[in-house]
Amino acid sequence: MIFPVLWQDDRALLIDQTRLPGELIQVPITDYQEMARAIKTMIVRGAPAIGVAAAYGMCLGARSIETEELGEFLAQLEFMAEELRQTRPTAVNLFWAIDQMLNVAYTQGENVAEVKAQMLAQAQAIQAQDLQTCQAIGEAGLAALPAQPEKLRLLTHCNAGALATAGYGTALGVVRSAWAAGRLERLFADETRPRLQGAKLTTWECVQEGIPVTLITDSMAGHCLQKGWIDAVVVGADRVARNGDAANKIGTYGLAALCAMHKIPFYVAAPLSTVDFELADGSQIPIEERDPREIYQLGETRLCPEGVDFYNPAFDVTPAELITAIITEAGAVPPGQLAHLNAV
Ligand code: MRU
Repeated sequence: MIFPVLWQDDRALLIDQTRLPGELIQVPITDYQEMARAIKTMIVRGAPAIGVAAAYGMCLGARSIETEELGEFLAQLEFMAEELRQTRPTAVNLFWAIDQMLNVAYTQGENVAEVKAQMLAQAQAIQAQDLQTCQAIGEAGLAALPAQPEKLRLLTHCNAGALATAGYGTALGVVRSAWAAGRLERLFADETRPRLQGAKLTTWECVQEGIPVTLITDSMAGHCLQKGWIDAVVVGADRVARNGDAANKIGTYGLAALCAMHKIPFYVAAPLSTVDFELADGSQIPIEERDPREIYQLGETRLCPEGVDFYNPAFDVTPAELITAIITEAGAVPPGQLAHLNAV
């Protein structure tokens, strides 16, 4: 099993995802500011994994607060929470996990020491829960996939695997479950420009599991769909609005539009913690813009001349009408029915 975040000996251990697939290295994180940096620089990435990491970041922050006075402790904790919130804007799991941690801090424990202990228990519960949730998503996805052909050729974009969650994965969880059930012939993995999560991380996970995987560049997906080589597309999400509009890695929207064109089912696999029921639709989802060097540099090599302007959005929003079903731990539903799951 691959665990991108672990808690061991009073510190967090993160798989450094910027070093994969070349090196599998765990970096120890001992304070909340280091955790904020790790999230921002994408040592840890993927919506649910960011949530788990932020929860442990809150624990590290809490532990470093020296006061015994509860009011003062909470004030300092709020300050730390704000710094963690500033790391990445799109994945709602970050804010969801921080709010859960603050809620525990405000409501559980008679004194600072007890609150700190309760916060650690909560972070561990968030992590354990996400692992179970991903396994449930895998099962729900397996049941929702097309019945024919028996052996499916699936395509995914970015990395929504074990590395992007507490373990197992959402979209890649569905792929794992299909593989285990003998229903997968092959996964096609989009390379996912500019950060190459598909090329570096999704293929790495598949190789670990012995899942047959074909790497393509993003621009080849349309061609593969047109050739009839793909039976369904499964992707993850960073934030899903109440109406089912789903933000995911840049390029997802184009892929969904191509699926509609070729009448190929397009699934979004995401835990309910990724659904932002407060947002009516996807137009309100904040889209992260990242350093333009991600698109104009390959390693140390500059790809274009001076004098060019850049735009580097990390995510796009796929309209609900292009999504066949949203696969959650509570089952797979058409996007229009997502709001009914709010009560679950
Ligand atoms: O920028 P990243 O690598 O954090 O983006 C990740 C994605 O877009 C994933 O598809 C999404 O977070 C779902 S992870 C289960």
